[in-house]
Formats: sequence, structure tokens, C-alpha cells
Amino acid sequence: MLAIILSGGSGTRLWPLSREAYPKQFIPVVSEESLLADTVTRGLKLGDDIRVLAITNEEHRFVVAANLQRLAPGRTEGIILEPVGRNTAPAIALAALAMAERDPDELMLVMPSDQVLKDEKAFARAVAAGSEAAGQGKLVTFGIVPSSPHTGYGYIRAGSPQKGWSAVDAFVEKPDAETAQGYLDEGGYFWNSGMFLFSARRYLEELERYQPNILEACRRAYQQREGDLDFTRVNREAFAACPDDSIDYAVMEHTRDAVVVPLDAGWSDVGSWSTLWEIQPQDEHGNACHGDVILEDVSGSYIHSEGRLIAALGVTDHVIVETDDVVLVADRNRVQDVKKLVNRLKAEG
Ligand code: GDD
Ligand code: MG
Repeated sequence: MLAIILSGGSGTRLWPLSREAYPKQFIPVVSEESLLADTVTRGLKLGDDIRVLAITNEEHRFVVAANLQRLAPGRTEGIILEPVGRNTAPAIALAALAMAERDPDELMLVMPSDQVLKDEKAFARAVAAGSEAAGQGKLVTFGIVPSSPHTGYGYIRAGSPQKGWSAVDAFVEKPDAETAQGYLDEGGYFWNSGMFLFSARRYLEELERYQPNILEACRRAYQQREGDLDFTRVNREAFAACPDDSIDYAVMEHTRDAVVVPLDAGWSDVGSWSTLWEIQPQDEHGNACHGDVILEDVSGSYIHSEGRLIAALGVTDHVIVETDDVVLVADRNRVQDVKKLVNRLKAEG
């Protein structure tokens, strides 16, 4: 089995810590190690025979390579470089094409590089159950019991359970809030964790069926690749012509061969500051802090200093993040909108 590490997102909602040039997966936000490093280690721990293949933007090749050299010596299948981002359906297609040349039936465990998983044993059990299903040609998703009508996730309606997994009756990527609430009320839905397990052959077959244009563009880009050292560079022009789409919309919403393995392993997607507040240890007033911080009458807040002392007084449910050049002050319940600020800054130059 190959652990396919996806490291292409920019994570604008963790601004100002996460920047285009240095996205969140490279930052140690929850442990001493970066989210990317934790992901690589988590993948390798699944078994001695697991190897790692990373897919990232050209711009981030050195930081990814340094991580793999340090954490996965002798267990790396290389790094595929995307000249431009075209989202996860093409990124995973490139990995599948590389694998198909060696063994199209080998399983690929697709791992986003921006998640936290606390219970490694439960994760290993879920992957073992998933491997069985993937070995039978299924496209495996890992389902998280939802705790809110979050609109940033895919929702999976599970069919009747078999041993260890259920067929996917429906997969809906990022429904609106009302629809998501309806799913929670109805019950029987999971959040899609964003990890997937299938053989390269089956992914390519399903992509060909539902999004042949993506597969064709990826094939062309991969055929005209250039390699040096550990890096495989796909052809810029051919890849730029590929439609931009995520695996969720491109394949998972359509395929009839998806299954879901329930995953109860302390999963979280480190998508915004409020998630960090939720998963970090909190003081008796419900504050989670990082760095040099002094608080008086503060509650329910996430306070993060990268250098300067943050002194806060009498505020509730805030997010305060200090970096060299930016201080963010936000309502903790509004942090999904940090990307609006980032977009305005971009537009205003
Ligand atoms: N190499 C590469 N290239 N990686 C990419 C690209 C790309 O163009 N785009 C995104 N990624 C990586 C991100 O770095 C992240 O690790 C992962 O792929 C998922 O992308 P996100 O952009 O974070 O997706 P999402 O969070 O909106 O949605 C996905 O994850 C949710 C769970 O966190 C979906 O799979 C949802 O269904 C799911 O619920
Ligand atoms: Mg994400």
C-alpha cells in the first residue's frame, strides 16, 4: 500500500499564520511537528511495507522533500510536482497514473496533509477494514459521526452495514446549511473525512467514466513528464489545461462502488481557528493559548502569539493571532470568514 500525501491547499482560513507561500500543512499548529510531518508519520505507522508518495505544488518541493528525507528515508516513492493547482481529482489521478505503471492493483491511501487524528489504533483498524473492501474493487471513504451541520464537508448517507463497512447510498459534497441540518435530523449520515482508499486501477476507471476530460489531461501531462532526483514534474501546459475539480465532486458523488468505513479516532480537519480552539487543551475559562500570553477576565478564546506578548482583558469568544506583520482579532464564531479578509487584501494588493 502507498500513502498518497496531498499537500496542495493554501489554508486561507488559518491566515495570518498560514500564507500562500507557507500554507498551514507546513506549520506546527497542534504538536511539535507540522501537520504534514504528522501525516507522513501516521501513514508509515500503518505497516512496515507502507511507502509514501507526495503530491505538491512546484513551489513547495523543498519543504516536502526535506520532510520525506527526514521521516521516511528509504520508504519514499518520490514527489510529484504540479506546476499549477487543479484540485484533488487531478492530483490523485497523477498519483494513480504513477502507481499504475508499477502495479495498478496496489492500494493507495489518500491522506490530506492538514488533519489531526488522535487515536492511531482506531485509525489502523479502519484502514484494515477498508483494505479488504478496496481489495474487492471498492472506493473506500472513512466516515466521521457529524457533530454539527458544518457546510465545509462532504456528507455520506450509509446503506445497510456489512462487516466493517456500508455501501454509500449518497455522497453530497458541501451541502448548504439547511440541507446539512436536514441530514443531521434524519440521521444515518457521516461526514467524509477526506481520506480515501482504492486501487489505482479503480480510481482511474471511475475517473474515466465520470470525468474523462480530467483523466485525459492528466495522462497527457504525466506522459510528458520530466524527472530529476526524487521529483517528477508533469508537463505545465498539458496540466494547466486540466479542469479544476475535487475528487468529491468529480468521482465520489457519482460512483456506485463507494463504501464507507466508520472512523472514530479523534479526527479533525484543521480548517479554521475555531477548530484549533476546540482541539487544544483549554484553561478553566475555556481559553486555549499558544506562546506569550497574559489574560484577565477572558473566556472561550483562542490566543496565539508568535513572538510579542499578547495581553487581553475582558473579552469572550475571541480569536487573537499575532505574527510578525499582522494581528488578527476576530469573533470566534466568525472565523470561517477570515478568507473574506484574505480575499480583500489580495484584491486591494
Ligand atoms: N497536491 C494537491 N493539489 N493537493 C491538494 C490540491 C491540489 O490541487 N487541492 C487540495 N489539496 C489537498 C489539501 O492540501 C488538503 O490536504 C486536501 O487536498 C483536501 O483539500 P481541501 O481543500 O482541504 O478540501 P476540503 O477540506 O475543502 O474538503 C475535503 O475534505 C473534507 C474533510 O476535511 C473533502 O474531501 C470533503 O468531502 C471532506 O469532508
Ligand atoms: Mg480541508
